[in-house]
Amino acid sequence: MNHQGREQWKTKIGFIIAASGSAIGLGNIWRFPYMTGMNGGGAFVVVYLLCIVFIGLPLLITELKIGRMTQRSPIAAFRALKGKKSPSQLMGWLVLVSGFMMLSFYSVVGGWSLEYILKSFLSVFVSKSPQTIYDMFGELYSNPAKNLLWHTCFMLTCMAVVVAGVQRGIERWTEILMGILLVLILVMVGRGLTSPGAAEGIRFVFSPDFSKLTPGAILEALGHAFFTLSLAMGIMITYGSYLDDKADIPRFSFWVATVDTGVALLACLMIFPIVFSYGFEAQAGPGLVFKTLPVVFSQMPMGMFFSTVFFFLLFFAAVTSGISILEPVVRAAMDGLGWQRKTATLILGFSVLLVGVPSALSGSTLASLKLLGERNFFDSVDYLVTNWFFPLGSLAVAIFIGWFMSEKLLQSEFVKGSKVGKYFPVWLFVVRYVSPVGMMLIFLNIVGFFKLF
Ligand code: TRP
Repeated sequence: MNHQGREQWKTKIGFIIAASGSAIGLGNIWRFPYMTGMNGGGAFVVVYLLCIVFIGLPLLITELKIGRMTQRSPIAAFRALKGKKSPSQLMGWLVLVSGFMMLSFYSVVGGWSLEYILKSFLSVFVSKSPQTIYDMFGELYSNPAKNLLWHTCFMLTCMAVVVAGVQRGIERWTEILMGILLVLILVMVGRGLTSPGAAEGIRFVFSPDFSKLTPGAILEALGHAFFTLSLAMGIMITYGSYLDDKADIPRFSFWVATVDTGVALLACLMIFPIVFSYGFEAQAGPGLVFKTLPVVFSQMPMGMFFSTVFFFLLFFAAVTSGISILEPVVRAAMDGLGWQRKTATLILGFSVLLVGVPSALSGSTLASLKLLGERNFFDSVDYLVTNWFFPLGSLAVAIFIGWFMSEKLLQSEFVKGSKVGKYFPVWLFVVRYVSPVGMMLIFLNIVGFFKLF
């Protein structure tokens, strides 16, 4: 089934870096801390970790294998697995629609980091009071022109990289800068842990109070597990299709999940001590990282330099993730419609740009537009895609793979190239029973069918 001449990863480590580059992004540094804050801390973190281990990781392995097995992008992959008219094609489409919608708001947040690069570079935060710095996010959020401008810049950047193609585009760029980001995060964690709010911050993140856990929070934790591992949108299927048979997919997946979760926890350790040191709100919402970090940068030696670098790297992390959302959409149009890479990127990229406009205006022009349960447009798209499309799509994938494919085929694919092939029965058991049942319980819980807590 190997497509001759399909682009391949130059090196294995290149793949791990690109996959981590996709996984590590705004989800870890922007979304996870603010979700943790909104959902009361430790208990949310515990549920999230359970979701990663029992649902995220097994499905990450599954997606990479679907890609390698079929050597195709999502829609074609499912078609190859089950024949043309099967409902599996529908899954492929769901996967792409989610990607499209997700990138539209992801890009808005990526754009915020551009504003913060500029602000840092211009030393705007210097000798301002913590509260003034904190409030600057609100000014950005309610400024329609800035949001549109930065959203556009972010999308154009992603499009430029995707036009360049797999190896020259994704792999090379990711390699260098992710390491620097990690170092900077560690520096900030160090500052956090030596600040007066450290103890309270750590307690908030790591000591679970299960009485604070709501059905909504459990669904958020599940959704975020998909969000942070770049699941359910065909990204990992597409990346897997660039892997050869020698690649040890289960081991790679383990590493990607571990690194990704580690960065998310570090981001919390960097942010919550600041929150408690200055008496800010843990429930500050989507602006949390932008409201808190500059406060500390403003008081550090060479703070504005570090701040500029940090937000640049955050922007970069967002771009590596952004391109991984755009890439499968483009790939599908190339494989399925025979478009050139450039045409596909331009048409699809500009479409995402347009679809993202209402999200970019959610704090200003469209602030009074409330959709799902009093959420604004931006929050509604995020909520719908992350908490419903991702888990439902993945549930379908898990059931399809676990129940409708031949066990022999799955086993030979699992074992291929892997030193941990003996864990095949464990993986199969989890994909067949544990993940689907877990997801269904969470869904039934939220629609009020029964009470988990
Ligand atoms: N995982 C990325 C993050 O945490 C976001 C992301 C990139 C993503 N590609 C994805 C999420 C595909 C879901 C599906 O920022």
